[in-house]
Amino acid sequence: MEILDLRHFSSADLRPLLEDETRVWSRLLSWDYGGSADMILRYVDAKILPGYAAVERGRICGYAFFVYEGSKGVIGDLYVTNGGRLPEAHEVESRLLVHVIETLQQSPGIHRIEAQLLLHESGAVARSFVEQGFERHARLFMSLPLTPAPHPEIPREAEIEIRRWAEPDYQPSAALITTAYRGHVDADINDQYRSLSGSLRFLNNIVRFPGCGTFDPESSFVAVHKRARSLAGLILCSRVRADVGHVTQVCVLPEYRSRRIGESLLAAATADLSRRNFSTLSLTVTEANAHAVELYRRLGFDTKRVFDAFVWEG
Ligand SMILES: CC(C)(COP(=O)(O)OP(=O)(O)OC[C@H]1O[C@@H](n2cnc3c(N)ncnc32)[C@H](O)[C@@H]1OP(=O)(O)O)[C@@H](O)C(=O)NCCC(=O)NCCS
Repeated sequence: MEILDLRHFSSADLRPLLEDETRVWSRLLSWDYGGSADMILRYVDAKILPGYAAVERGRICGYAFFVYEGSKGVIGDLYVTNGGRLPEAHEVESRLLVHVIETLQQSPGIHRIEAQLLLHESGAVARSFVEQGFERHARLFMSLPLTPAPHPEIPREAEIEIRRWAEPDYQPSAALITTAYRGHVDADINDQYRSLSGSLRFLNNIVRFPGCGTFDPESSFVAVHKRARSLAGLILCSRVRADVGHVTQVCVLPEYRSRRIGESLLAAATADLSRRNFSTLSLTVTEANAHAVELYRRLGFDTKRVFDAFVWEG
């Protein structure tokens, strides 16, 4: 088995592996990976996707890619056929990861590497990261079955209004995210949350690009302080399968917390998706974010998988 630069290959070489991976995303996470797979294949044909392929007898049996975002490298994906089942697949995963990590750590100007590998059970690929000096954070993939039953109104203060997210909320949303995540464990995992420009990039990725599903404005809401006309909280959702919604962001400003605004935002999204016959709403949350995990459990979310987020700072 050889590890080769991904840029030696075309979409035709990689397509069978991505079709296999798309089935796994669907089975494990109810997630339609087709849009992401198409984007990856276009990048492969354009020879602009840095990464590695594991090749056995002329066939690609695994791959990993990364992207550069300024001084940060983000590992976008790692997938090996039968990964997690065959002992030799683990070996292939480790070899791909070591190549990717070493390439990024040796890239001039790269001071930080992030990775969140949802398909890999917590611990499954941790060794390669930990041995290279990465920090590891357990994260939960949770989901809530949606029912068409009417959703009760949640009592909340009269000064807060919940309304749909709209384009003019773009800038204020970025400011809200930056404030809501100050000193938060998720800002250790994703450094975009630490600045206004980073939060704008995060929003841009979610709203304009199909990386994390397709943004769904109808089930995205803001909590507005009526008198001050300022945002107190927001929830953003994407469609990750025709009938599955995913919360890509939910946060409330510190001074407004514990007033059921978070719960109201989740209820608004849930009610909208149920009305449109979505079957499921999913989200990911850092295990150490105990308040959020507790809130989601109370609302009926169930943990489907535990995966790891990895961070390296050089
Ligand atoms: C998680 C978050 C959105 C919850 O919003 P919220 O408006 O405080 O949530 P609610 O008032 O509806 O529910 C609060 C309940 O959840 C728990 N909880 C959530 N955040 C809490 C906090 N900071 N302090 C105490 N309890 C909290 C408690 O069980 C609480 O119940 P209680 O107030 O009756 O004790 C908010 O804490 C937040 O923005 N955190 C930072 C960003 C974040 O972690 N987002 C989620 C990422 S997955």
